[in-house]
Amino acid sequence: MLKATLVLDPAFVVGPVRRRTFGSFVEHLGRCVYTGIHDPAHPSADADGFREDVIDVVRELGVGTVRYPGGNFVSGYRWEDGVGPQDSRPTRLDLAWHSSDPNTVGVDEFIRWARKADVEPMMAINLGTRGVQEALDILEYCNVDGGTHFSDLRRQNGTDEPHNIRMWCLGNEMDGPWQIGHKTAHEYGRLAAETARAMRMIDPDLELVVCGSSGSAMPTFGAWEATVLAETYSHVDMVSAHAYYYEEDGDLASFLASAVDMDHFVESVAATADYVRAAKKQTKRIHISFDEWNVWYQQRAESEPPSGQDWPVAPVLLEDRYNVADAVVVGNLLISLLRHTDRVHSASLAQLVNVIAPIMTEPGGRLWRQTTFHPFALTAQHAKGDVLRLAVESPQVETVKFGEVNALDAVATRDAEAGEVAIFAVNRSVSEPLTLTVDIRSLGDLRLLGAQTLSNPDHTWAATADDDTSVLPRDNSSAAVSGGTVTVELPAVSWSVIRLGA
Ligand code: AHR
Repeated sequence: MLKATLVLDPAFVVGPVRRRTFGSFVEHLGRCVYTGIHDPAHPSADADGFREDVIDVVRELGVGTVRYPGGNFVSGYRWEDGVGPQDSRPTRLDLAWHSSDPNTVGVDEFIRWARKADVEPMMAINLGTRGVQEALDILEYCNVDGGTHFSDLRRQNGTDEPHNIRMWCLGNEMDGPWQIGHKTAHEYGRLAAETARAMRMIDPDLELVVCGSSGSAMPTFGAWEATVLAETYSHVDMVSAHAYYYEEDGDLASFLASAVDMDHFVESVAATADYVRAAKKQTKRIHISFDEWNVWYQQRAESEPPSGQDWPVAPVLLEDRYNVADAVVVGNLLISLLRHTDRVHSASLAQLVNVIAPIMTEPGGRLWRQTTFHPFALTAQHAKGDVLRLAVESPQVETVKFGEVNALDAVATRDAEAGEVAIFAVNRSVSEPLTLTVDIRSLGDLRLLGAQTLSNPDHTWAATADDDTSVLPRDNSSAAVSGGTVTVELPAVSWSVIRLGA
């Protein structure tokens, strides 16, 4: 049996828990929009054609923000196609995913959906095939009250109140050679700076996200951020980070340690941003928008777009089925994001429905929750107040990709007002259970409110439409509090939440 200890102290605060850390992402990709969130033929569809059963489950997931409309899709997108009478909207080729888009859903529909789902919208603009003018046009359409061409067009299209979108992504993954309109760091940095500067002439208080790297393994990683931020530092608030190369390729131990890579990614980008801050004699800090992250089995057939003359609407694409080990890793990646709440001010689990998603739907039919749904929903529900900096003592496990890593990874949050503490913990050992002892003496007299653990003797178990409930987070009866100490047994390959209160 492995043994690890944590010490919690309310004086050691990293920063606040942010609702924006629990963001997600809806792209015009595969069945995320069409037959995902939008399915007019479904019995639960509202007047806009949005599935209300999906909206209910999005609320249950606890999502804070939703990024839209892409992704790679946005780099060829003409937003004007998606506004006005639906029957006169054009169908366009989507080059990013070799599909067709009928534009039935556009910015007005998405905003109506976001308001119903109680999520904050985060809008991405096309800096692949387009530039400053089109960014200004969509901003005017969305955020100007009225009396101008595009703001009056929005009113004419049925929305009098401005959409008032605060967070805007200046393009998507512009470092990636696969991106439509891919640019060098210098070319992109200049365009992003001019776009941001002009957007602020309309609305100085926007929160602008400049593209960072599509992954820490990109050949330009680090240098890209340094060059782009050198051009844009005073014009933007956040730099993006995307990470997907988390998949079990026969090496479970390395896969379970994926959060080591995310820790390294965040700390490297923060260090690079601080280098530019020093070099440019700036005082403000640039924060990180980790606006695409997930486990993604990119080599599987599900991720292969159509080809040739086949340009389908809403094809089955990237519909990964997640197992218990995948859910443990997703829970651990969320631990990493929370641990860095001082620098990560926004994050998006990519994506929300059907496409590498926690929520799956059948066209016109059932929906079900993947295994990854549960650690996300429980963390969103119970992480409150401040994130605490922990003292951790853990045995090591050996991994091929990362060398020796802690078997235990954990983060804790404390809601001082409610007098509640939540500890989120992962046992990354592939074979051995771990006894966790937590010293909570400096937190006063706390009792156990509950402990839940997600694990299964078969970590490859995955939910389906027929069975998404046989393996769920279960009450962990080993958890106990006595004399200022919490003890709990964490099975191998497991994710847990332990909740304490006064
Ligand atoms: O989320 C799927 C794709 O992954 C997005 O379109 C793109 O930004 C990233 O490469």
